[in-house]
Formats: sequence, C-alpha cells, structure tokens
Amino acid sequence: MIDVIHDHAFHLYNQKISYLCSLLPNGQLGHLYFGPRLSLTNTDLDYLSQGSSPYAWMANFSSDQPFALGDAQQEYPVYGTGDFRQGSLSVTQDDAPVYPNFVFKDYHISHTKMRDLHHPTSFGNPALTDVLTIHLEDETAQLLLTLQYTIFSDSATVVRAATLTNQGSEPVMIQRMLSGVLNLPQGRFDVVHLSGNWAKERHIQTQPLTQGTFSVESLRGASSHEQNPFVALHAVNRSFTSGDTYGANLIYSSNFLDSIEVNEWDQTRLLIGIHPASFSWRLDPKTSFTTPEAVFSFSSGGLAGLAQVNQRFVARHIIDPQWRQKTRPVVLNSWEATYFDLNEQKLLRLAKLGRQVGVDCFVLDDGWFGTRDNDLSSLGDWFTNKHKFPDGLGHFAQEIHDLGLQFGLWFEPEMVSPRSQFFQKHPNWVVRPKRGRFSITRNQYVLDFSNPAVVNNIFDQMQKVITETHLDYVKWDLNRSITEAYSPYLAKIGHPQGEFFHRYVQGVYTLYQKLLTAFPQLLIEGCAGGGGRFDLGILFYSPQIWTSDDSDAIERLAIQSGTALAYPLSCMSNHVTAVPNEQVGRTTPLATRFRVAAFGILGYELDLTKLSPKELAIIKDQISYYHDLQPLVLNGDFSLLLPRQSNGQNQVAWLLSDHARKRLVLGFFRVLADADSRTVQYMKIPLAQPNRRYWVNGHTGPISGDVLQRVGVRLPIQFNGANREQAQLIGDYQSALLTFDGVTDIKAINRRREEEGKEKVGHV
Ligand code: DGJ
Repeated sequence: MIDVIHDHAFHLYNQKISYLCSLLPNGQLGHLYFGPRLSLTNTDLDYLSQGSSPYAWMANFSSDQPFALGDAQQEYPVYGTGDFRQGSLSVTQDDAPVYPNFVFKDYHISHTKMRDLHHPTSFGNPALTDVLTIHLEDETAQLLLTLQYTIFSDSATVVRAATLTNQGSEPVMIQRMLSGVLNLPQGRFDVVHLSGNWAKERHIQTQPLTQGTFSVESLRGASSHEQNPFVALHAVNRSFTSGDTYGANLIYSSNFLDSIEVNEWDQTRLLIGIHPASFSWRLDPKTSFTTPEAVFSFSSGGLAGLAQVNQRFVARHIIDPQWRQKTRPVVLNSWEATYFDLNEQKLLRLAKLGRQVGVDCFVLDDGWFGTRDNDLSSLGDWFTNKHKFPDGLGHFAQEIHDLGLQFGLWFEPEMVSPRSQFFQKHPNWVVRPKRGRFSITRNQYVLDFSNPAVVNNIFDQMQKVITETHLDYVKWDLNRSITEAYSPYLAKIGHPQGEFFHRYVQGVYTLYQKLLTAFPQLLIEGCAGGGGRFDLGILFYSPQIWTSDDSDAIERLAIQSGTALAYPLSCMSNHVTAVPNEQVGRTTPLATRFRVAAFGILGYELDLTKLSPKELAIIKDQISYYHDLQPLVLNGDFSLLLPRQSNGQNQVAWLLSDHARKRLVLGFFRVLADADSRTVQYMKIPLAQPNRRYWVNGHTGPISGDVLQRVGVRLPIQFNGANREQAQLIGDYQSALLTFDGVTDIKAINRRREEEGKEKVGHV
C-alpha cells in the first residue's frame, strides 16, 4: 500500500514494514523511516520531520535557505552539496562538475510490474504490487531524476531504482549513479557480508561498523566469487535470531559497490549500485539511463529472520514463476565423471546407470564441441565434435531421450579460445586493449558482448544445437574475469569505454532473453567456475546456479549457510561427488554428501561405473527420498537453525518446512566428533506447530509440536567411547536427516499406534 500525505510525504507499507519519505525544506526528497510497520498520524509526520540543530562547520543550502544537507537523510544524495558523505550521483558536463538540485515535481502510483526478459527486475501481479514513481527536476541543469519504489504486499522489502533523463540539448556524463540508499540515522550495526574465494564462496563474515567507510565490491566484470552484492546490517550485540536487521542486494551481475559509511554523528548510510570506478555513461540529449534495482529488506528477527524474508522475496519476485511449480530434474553431470575424456559409449554407459538409480537428466558438460579435448581450444565453436559423436549430437541426444532422460549441455557463451575457428574469423570480437599485451586465463579470451553482432552470432550457434538436440537444460558457464577492458566495437561507434562493463552485461541479458524467448521451457543453470556469478540478475533468468565448484560436504555447510542468507534453496544446485573430494581431498560419508546436497537442487557428478552395487542402491534410495522432498525445497520455508559461519561452528542445523508446518525436515551435521560427548541432546524446532503431533523417524510415538518447540527433538546419540551399542553417530562428518510428519487427526495417530501394537495417545 502507498499513502500520500498532503502531497509531500509518501508512506509505503504492508503488514510487516513501513518506508517513509517526505520533502525537505528545499524541495528535495528526504528519508524519514524504514523498519517495522508504523501506524501514522499527521502529527507523527510533523514530529518525524523535525529538522536538526546547527553544527559547527555546517554548510547552509544557500544564502536564503538556512537549511543544511550535512546530516539530512536524503533519498538520492548528490555529493558535494554540503553533505560530505558519499553520494548516489555524480554528473559532469564539459568536464566540469554539475551539482543538481533535484526538486519535487510530481508522482504517480501504479500496480503493474510485469516480468520483461529484456531487463532483470523484480515483478509481481497487480494484486500484490504497488509502484510509486516520483519525478524530481533541476531546471537549470535540465536533468530529470525519476525515483521508483516498489512494495509487494507479501514481502518485507522495498525495491528501488533511479532514472536520469537529459532534458537539455548538450550531452552530460554520468560518473556515478547508484541504485539506492539506505539511511539509518539511529543505532549501531555489525555489517554481515558474504565473502570468500573460488571453492569457498559466500561465507558469512561479520564485523562491527565504526566511523568510516566499509565496502564490498567487484571489479571483475561479474558479481564474483570473492564478494557478493548482498550485505546485511545487524543491530550490535544481538543473536543470530534477534535484533533489527536490514538487508541490501542488487539485481545485477556485473561490477557492483556496496558502501556503508558511518559519519561523525553515528548516522549510517548504505549505498548500493553499479561500481563507479569502472563506469561512466554519456547521456545524450533526450535520453535516459536507468540503474539496476536495489532490494532493501528488513526483519526484527535477526539474520535468521532476514534470511527468510530474502528467500521468499527471491522465490516470488525474481525467479521465473514456471520454476516454482515444475519439478527440477535430478541431474547426472559428466564433468567430474569423465572430464574431457569422453566418447559416446562411455557417456551412454553412465547415462544408463544414471537412469537405473533414478536421475531425471543427463548433462554433458565441457568437451563435446569443436575439437575440444582439453581447455586449450574450441570455445566459440559451438558445433559437434565429430570425432567424439560420429553420428552427430542429435543422434546422441536421441539415445539419451530414448532412455527416458532429459538431456543437458554445457556452454560457455561469453568466451573464445585463441585456438578456434571463431577467433580466426573474428579477432576483433574480443575484449582487448587497442595496443599491447592483454591477459589470458584458462587459455581463453572474453568476447565483446557489448557488440550485438557477437551476441547474435553466439545465439545463432546455440539455437542450432538446442534445436538439433531438443535440449532440455543448458549449463551456462563463465571461467574468467574481464581484464584490460576495452571494446573495439564501442570505439568504432564512438561510445565512451566507461560504458563497456554495463553494455557487456546487457549483452549477457540479451542472450538470455533471446534464448528464453525462443525456448521458453529451457532450464538454464547459471555457473561461473562454480559460484562466481551468484546474483539476482542471473537468478531472474536462471532459476538455479551451480553453487560452487567445491562439492565437499563440509565446505558446502559454510557455502550453503551463507548463500541461504540471501537466496532460496531452490536456486542452489548441489551435487554429490566422489571421495576423496576433488577440491579439498576430504573423504566424507556418502550419506553426509547426500544430506548436505539435498538442501537445494540435487544432482550427481561422479563415475557411477566405479561404484559398488550397494552404493548404487543407496543412491537410488537417496534420489527417491529427494523426489519426495523437492516440493519443500521449491516452495517451503527454510530456517538456518545453526548456520556454519566464518568461525566454523562444529554443529550445523538446517530446517525445512511446508507453509502449513505439516511436514518438517531437519538436517543435522557435526563436523568433528566430540570426545566423551553427552548422550542426550535436544534441538529446538521453532517451526513445529503446538497443536500438532509429529511422527519423527528414529523416535517412537508422535511428539507434540509444543514439546518440539520448547524442549526440542532428541538428536541421534553420539559415540562417546563407552556407548558403542547405542551410538548412532560416530566419527567425523556426522549427519542425520529427521523428518517430522505432522498430524492433527487423533484417530489417524491411534490407528497407526494400534498397527504398531502400542498404547493409544491422549488428545492433542
Ligand atoms: C567450471 C565449472 O564450474 C565446472 O562445473 C565445469 O563445468 C567446468 N567449468 C568445465 O570446464
């Protein structure tokens, strides 16, 4: 809902949150409040709008307006205007800075936000969606600023974007244009960010904020393995499940900046958007530039509460709705099974075994195209390797389909190998500086996706293969960062190179748009050497992303805990792989590998021909269990009961539930065995409903939700040196899956107890 009060204040709210802004004395738009829902009266508004007292060294807005921006909460601050904090916007004209004074002009409210494949944005149906558009203008600079705010009735989030329009007759240069600002004038916060590296992405890292600026960012041309656009501000000295907590994320896949500044008066300002260090944009007369959307979320339930807000928002307002209903295939991926050493016979043997254990889709990873037998060649040549598939890929795909499996293929559309037909033909279609050397990673160059001809060429090649193979699934990989950024194409058409990174990612989105328009049912899994581009821009197109190249179950406890702070389980692609693990060399039990991977979209990526009949039978049971579990993964609620954070907790617990709390699944993991551990340990199940009883595997009789909530479920007994007979968990890398089946029907409970020859239970 949006209330407009006296045409100068705007209150966006739903059942959970309020966001309030109003005009400052100089006509600019100021910020008043973001947090739990407020019931406002007019006098409250006056009360909240009280101006500040003067401070020493404060710059007044102008000689006739003794009002100061120095400590004002602004909705879109411009640096250098008496507010010395970092700003959202910097503009120059003829190399001179412009300091626009954006004064309120008008507003309108709408209720439609359709999903449009041309640009990744949030979307929602009219019953849930309110969009406030505010125009602010600087008549002297002839610039129009449009601020857009979206609130969905089912989400504790506010989504923001900004558009700048040049109404003059001369171009202006945008040097910096961020998506949104979060103003927190009160309170002290810890910043929580998801940082790491290849094979250890998105670890939960926390540090206190003090006066100064802290930032997370990427300048790699993708959102990166190292830092993620998501950050949270968590009230200091509160537990994981308590305290006011604010989140910020960006619907974008390229260079980003999240900067959090605490000033001399302990006011916190968070800015998020395209990284200004690698960006500038020439705004020609009568043209506009729109930023990607920023998502601000809130929970008073700490990081655990914020995670749920974020997960629901992404599942409902970012991911393609068709993938909420449809089941996702359990894949068997060929990469760690065969690497480049593949041929049709070998793959068919694998696929047949996959079929026997119950997988739904066979994915042929790298190595099927051009003359690719290693990573030295062929990216860009997206046609069948005739040596490996003498009858063509269409024929092989048919064999896979005949087994009753879906078929998937790996592509790395944005890359080219110097040893390829493509590069020989189009050496100028590569990102490379005008002169001199340029870097190479994994023997490959980056294609200039700011050039539409390049995107069209790659689309045509992919379209041919997808049509020939009746492809069900694509794994879209990206295995290097962008260096020496320079586009020969932009130079040719006379655009500034500062536009390159943004135009590049627009090219990536265009390829997605073309593929999904031509093949709307195609499931495209995102990947960037694992989780190097795990962001809301990619999730708008790809409902799932390969979470990390590291599939070690213990490392995944940290990666998946961190990822779940910002993203739903339904977008984490997790594979069970062989041991010792290829990335860290650790040997974990098959059960633990499965139980970790089951909290997401399950797949297998190992040579099944090397497994014993017993192991194959176990995998068959796992897949059958998972098929039953997947609806909860796609549409349920997920709680990080005990996340694995950067200080490496030994015990991790994750809880999944359907909305009605009828069925709950607890994943419990203990990394290292405890010596002389206690034998009775309870874990509270906050989502259990007090008015239900739950059958829990491993326990007799239904247990009331009340007891599960307040006392907890008894965890499997750990080996302590003396209890070998009773011990259920022994050694390192322990895991258990406990399933809670809720019933309110006392007769059904007693029928089952009777069948088991047990005494009836009393009323629930
Ligand atoms: C990196 C990916 O993350 C892997 O899963 C695999 O697809 C390889 N690339 C193939 O080259």
